[in-house]
Amino acid sequence: MELRSLGLTGLQVSPLGLGTVKFGRNQGVKYPRPFALPSDREALALLELAWDLGINLLDTAPAYGESEERLGRLLRQCRRNWVIVTKVGEEFGDGASSFDFSAAATRASVERSLRRLGVATLDAVLIHSSGDDLTILEREEVLPTLRHLQQAGLIRAVGMSSKTVAGGLRAVECCDVVMVTYNLAQREGLPVIRAADAAGRGVLIKKGLLSGHLDPLTNADPVQASMELIYAEPGVSSVVVGTLNPEHLRANVAAAERSLLLLRERGCR
Ligand SMILES: NC(=O)c1ccc[n+]([C@@H]2O[C@H](COP(=O)([O-])OP(=O)(O)OC[C@H]3O[C@@H](n4cnc5c(N)ncnc54)[C@H](OP(=O)(O)O)[C@@H]3O)[C@@H](O)[C@H]2O)c1
Repeated sequence: MELRSLGLTGLQVSPLGLGTVKFGRNQGVKYPRPFALPSDREALALLELAWDLGINLLDTAPAYGESEERLGRLLRQCRRNWVIVTKVGEEFGDGASSFDFSAAATRASVERSLRRLGVATLDAVLIHSSGDDLTILEREEVLPTLRHLQQAGLIRAVGMSSKTVAGGLRAVECCDVVMVTYNLAQREGLPVIRAADAAGRGVLIKKGLLSGHLDPLTNADPVQASMELIYAEPGVSSVVVGTLNPEHLRANVAAAERSLLLLRERGCR
């Protein structure tokens, strides 16, 4: 897959990224079906397949259970030039999420991510919003602390995984990257994507396949239709989709490539 710029961060990412919630957490999640966490061998095989298919972007978070720690361990066996996005602010333990956007928690979380992932610099750290995006961006210590850590060379790009349109628009003003929900059933984030494009911010799409809840969609090929919707927006840097199924991974890459080709032929990109 042809890499794209993640806004003005200097990072180049594949238009499809691999989400890794399902590598580390199967409690308190809203997927259509329960599932077992993959073995290390299965997770490593998925990572290798993703790389071979042209994916260079991985999305993780401390709130995704064992995901970040596991990725760090597995990537030591599969060293490539991955771009890894992680997050701060949310923790998941004893079946529930908790949030802390203080300077001390931010610093501790970033230091732990560096250690777990075994890197000297984190490519991108997104604020894992609790839902109150504006308060977090404007009143909490997390953003200035991340900027400080960025100046110290520990982080390349700073962003927010937003939950509201107002928060997404504010993140466009004060961050390098914004992560937005955008799919066939939830299009409210479109103004955020367009504002980010105009401002040169990186745009990562989450829930592009409705977290797997594709059944209610009436499209003949909902994966293809989803990719076409998303890539029609030139501001999109990458859509992050998780899967434990190698066939789904192959199908997603094929649908992404078909959509990008179609859009190029139609002169939209
Ligand atoms: N920051 C946040 O607040 C936040 C929230 C949610 C997600 N995220 C990030 O964004 C990513 C996307 O989130 P998400 O909510 O969409 O969940 P996701 O973790 O990406 O899961 C996608 C779901 O779709 C299914 N799927 C994937 N490809 C498919 C295909 N071709 N056909 C049918 N089903 C398919 C997967 O099941 P199979 O395993 O069976 O393929 C999985 O259950 C996450 O992985 C995570 O990295 C961030």
